Amino acid sequence: MYRTHLCNVLRKEHIGQTVTLAGWVNSRRDHGGVIFIDLRDREGITQVVFRPEENPQVSDLSHDLRSEDVIQVTGCVAARIEGTVNPKLVTGEIELIATELKVLNKADVPPFPLDSKIANEDLRLTYRYLDLRRAEMTHNLKLRHRVVKATRDYLDERGYLEIETPILSNPTPEGARDFLVPSRLTPGSFYALPQAPQQYKQLLQVAGMEKYFQIARCFRDEDLRADRQPEFTQIDLEASFITEEEIQTLVEGLLARIFKESKGIDIPTPFPRLPYIDAMNRFGSDKPDLRFGVELTELSDLFGASEFKVFRSVLDGGGVIKAINAKGAAAAFSKEQLKKWEEWVKVEFGAKGLAYIRLKDGVWESPIVKFFSEAEKTALAERMGFEEGDVLFFGAGAWEQVCEILGRVRLRVAELLKLNEGNEALNFLWVVDFPLLAWSAEDNKWVAVHHPFTRPKGEDVALLDAGEYGKVRSVAYDVVLNGVELGGGSIRIHEKELQAKMFAVLGVNEEEQQVKFGHLLKAFSFGAPPHGGLALGLDRLVMLICGAESIREVIAFPKNNRGSDLMTHSPVIVDFKQLRELYIQSTAKKG
Ligand code: AMO
Ligand code: AMP
Repeated sequence: MYRTHLCNVLRKEHIGQTVTLAGWVNSRRDHGGVIFIDLRDREGITQVVFRPEENPQVSDLSHDLRSEDVIQVTGCVAARIEGTVNPKLVTGEIELIATELKVLNKADVPPFPLDSKIANEDLRLTYRYLDLRRAEMTHNLKLRHRVVKATRDYLDERGYLEIETPILSNPTPEGARDFLVPSRLTPGSFYALPQAPQQYKQLLQVAGMEKYFQIARCFRDEDLRADRQPEFTQIDLEASFITEEEIQTLVEGLLARIFKESKGIDIPTPFPRLPYIDAMNRFGSDKPDLRFGVELTELSDLFGASEFKVFRSVLDGGGVIKAINAKGAAAAFSKEQLKKWEEWVKVEFGAKGLAYIRLKDGVWESPIVKFFSEAEKTALAERMGFEEGDVLFFGAGAWEQVCEILGRVRLRVAELLKLNEGNEALNFLWVVDFPLLAWSAEDNKWVAVHHPFTRPKGEDVALLDAGEYGKVRSVAYDVVLNGVELGGGSIRIHEKELQAKMFAVLGVNEEEQQVKFGHLLKAFSFGAPPHGGLALGLDRLVMLICGAESIREVIAFPKNNRGSDLMTHSPVIVDFKQLRELYIQSTAKKG
């Protein structure tokens, strides 16, 4: 036996017992020949003392110990003398007086200290196996485990079956690029790694499984950010004969259970529901952070007859004018900064500008007020609650663009004014009634806002038939926590004809429908039950529970933001021979 106890177990009541521990040397201190070791395993730390006068041989050996050496120590549990008790350690009242020491393996000097925060993420990822030894990372992975365990228990209790679906699969559109895997056995053919198990989980409903879930690995080739990885994990679920409200209640219960079991927190349910259109109009986002106000205010009606040409022409062209009031921000935002904000919205969002008014010492500082009439100024001040010290930001243009820009300005205002600082609130909400379709100027066609399997609202199907695609709402919903999209789902189309119509609207012709989705359309002809579901981003959820800044902090072996694994060096250039077997020719140059 390597050990009798773990390093977080020993207490006063063990005093006098002989025990054996095993683990890593966390730190070593030499106090005039007496060696103190903090011995660490996954669960905690126990102080071990090597006293030369009592046990000279073992003590000699301990002089050579270095950080991260792997050792096994036997000794007697003793009370720490007064004044040396460490209240920060659960084992802080005792120490182990070593009588035997076995070095199981020596360690080289680690490339970074394991007991502090390390700024260089590349270095951490290169030596991830060392990084994960740090208490913070061990904590995150344990918490992730608890979240998954709570999920399995909760869904199992409700009759959900955990069913695995293929990783080598066919393309399923979720809005990103596919990762492809060449097939050696079928030259020129490729598997796609699943962006989500969407089609399989629907086919499992046709298969009569009724309630499915999976801790599902998903793969998406898209631009990476702090909350995006090329491979990530979803808590994926789907059920038959279920309504939108029932799915939402199920997921609220699941999140409540997860927060209770991983954090001991009770979260209030049900979560508020906010239609997409209101979320955009009021917060300029389909995943609004409701921990602070700074709402968007509609101003179009105030400027219908304005002298200000920019506003007038936007309104004449069917656009809107909206503004936000950054209360008390005048002191924090200098004129130079406000100019930079303008540059930012131009470069980032292709906006024409970001007009502002700063009210400082009774003066309306602004490039645009000179165009306003007194009546307009009065009405504006009243509508916006505009007071000394405030800054207004204006967006004028197409509705969606104006909402999105002011939504981003709103977030930046909150960040700079530290509106969320110290706020421990967990603000959950459902955004509901998403549009079914959106016009893509880039592709010059209608695209699915969620995915092509999402059901239009019953009362809006007529709009679909009438070709009023932009007005059709869907039975799709996202769950949002503090401005992060945690998950999304929908009630699905289960009728062959409606599904075919949806594909047609999306510009997928009949032949392509058969090639890409024939299996699904076929399945729907054999008695597909009404069904729906949702997927939560597990990594994002754990990130928020841990209070981490990036999902990389809660994934054991993540890719960096260039999609590389710095530890194993993947992706790698492969041999010509390997490519030839796969009937692949690479045009990339080595190095
Ligand atoms: P969706 O595409 O909204 O829905 O994804 C569901 C959730 O997965 C998380 N997520 C990601 N997390 C990390 N890295 C990524 N690259 C990434 N992309 C998405 C988000 C998101 O809310 N099949 C549908 C679900 C359904 O309709 O049931 C789907 O995948 O938290
Ligand atoms: P211009 O007449 O283009 O110099 O713009 C005058 C002011 O209006 C500048 O502060 C611009 O930033 C602002 N502005 C111009 N176009 C827009 C727009 N579409 N939305 C908001 N502000 C704008």
